[in-house]
Amino acid sequence: MVQDPKTVVVVGTGYVGLPAALLMARVGHKVIGVDINENIVKAINEGVMHIKEDELQAILDEPRVRANLTAQTTPTEADIFFIAVPSPLDERKKIADLSMVISATEALVPHLKAGNLVVLESTVPPLTCREVLTPILEKSGLKVGENLYLAHCPERILPGNVFHEIVHNDRIIGADDETSRRLATEIYATFVEGELLQTDDVTAEFCKLVENTYRDINIALANELNAVAETLGINGVDAFKLSNRHPRVNVLTPGIGVGGHCIPIDPWFIKEVDPINSRMIMTARQVNQEMPARTAAKIRKAVRNVNAPKLVLIGASYKPNVEDTRESPANEIVELLIEDGYDVSHYDPLVDSMRYDSLESAVTDADALVVLVGHTVVLDEIAANRSAIEDAMRTPIILTF
Ligand SMILES: NC(=O)c1ccc[n+]([C@@H]2O[C@H](COP(=O)([O-])OP(=O)(O)OC[C@H]3O[C@@H](n4cnc5c(N)ncnc54)[C@H](O)[C@@H]3O)[C@@H](O)[C@H]2O)c1
Repeated sequence: MVQDPKTVVVVGTGYVGLPAALLMARVGHKVIGVDINENIVKAINEGVMHIKEDELQAILDEPRVRANLTAQTTPTEADIFFIAVPSPLDERKKIADLSMVISATEALVPHLKAGNLVVLESTVPPLTCREVLTPILEKSGLKVGENLYLAHCPERILPGNVFHEIVHNDRIIGADDETSRRLATEIYATFVEGELLQTDDVTAEFCKLVENTYRDINIALANELNAVAETLGINGVDAFKLSNRHPRVNVLTPGIGVGGHCIPIDPWFIKEVDPINSRMIMTARQVNQEMPARTAAKIRKAVRNVNAPKLVLIGASYKPNVEDTRESPANEIVELLIEDGYDVSHYDPLVDSMRYDSLESAVTDADALVVLVGHTVVLDEIAANRSAIEDAMRTPIILTF
């Protein structure tokens, strides 16, 4: 238990904000989760976890957490404010849509007092703390760096392993002044076991984008090299395994595209601040954006000799073993095939509204079973029941990506 418990408001109780709120409540801080979504507020107050993550429901069930965590739809006075609201891409302008970050920050203004700390966890383009948040926060009459403190601490959790990562990952604590850095480090030190790495706010904002851009470019490289291997008529993945025996090479696994809330979006925030120096970044984005169309083309080719093929597509999440469907390339592939006029059934055993009874029943009379997202439970079921699944199909074409 912390020696000096704080009152902490966490604005935005989704994938990022709620786990942090739970862990702070668990160590003894008084935490008020604030969310504009009334259903989420109700669920938290009733002790129901709305995010499917191992261990988080168990933490919410702990009596100390239930006692220290409440939720409401508007902010209130506190010592520390966390902002963890979405910062999506404005699809038309291809720049960050900061409207939710701005409205969440504006909502804090009437509640700010001298000595408060505001921590932005949302991913944002560099300079957002200085040029967007600071002017809003100073409408309170307080001055950032003098009697109001502001830090940016980007989140780098892996959906599917949130609890472990939020505690054990090293964290970047970025602020323009020493006191903000110290205060932010103190609150994170109460629930993070990873190292707390201090820097300035702009570097912290940039680091988060660097991390996801690095991932995007390396995935694009794997996708592009795999396409070259296909042109050569060889197996790219086998080639990568051999190449990766070089001590300084690690080609990633090619796939159907890049999805989720972070990797396909954050590279655009770099382009937003420096388009001239984002050429490789944007080429990688383009390669990854083409993957759903390329995958749809492979599926069409596989069923080209079947009359009026019936397709069963498995997987709607953006990667294996999670239920998060945001920016999912699998869904884009399904849409492309539906537009083509194929008879498509689409399931995902991890997504509530998309479950099947068994793969064997789902593929009855189908001409192709296409695994777009390789959830372990799906691959295990195919491995265990392959011949029964094939027997249930009209044409036993099975593709896994
Ligand atoms: N999900 C991840 O794995 C991940 C990882 C690292 C960083 N991030 C970043 O963290 C931020 C939050 O992402 P998330 O995945 O938690 O989003 P989320 O959609 O799961 O949760 C955000 C919550 O904020 C609420 N909200 C929106 N506007 C609000 C407002 N004005 N006041 C109060 N609540 C408001 C929404 O109702 C929602 O419940 C984003 O910037 C994202 O890029 C996410």
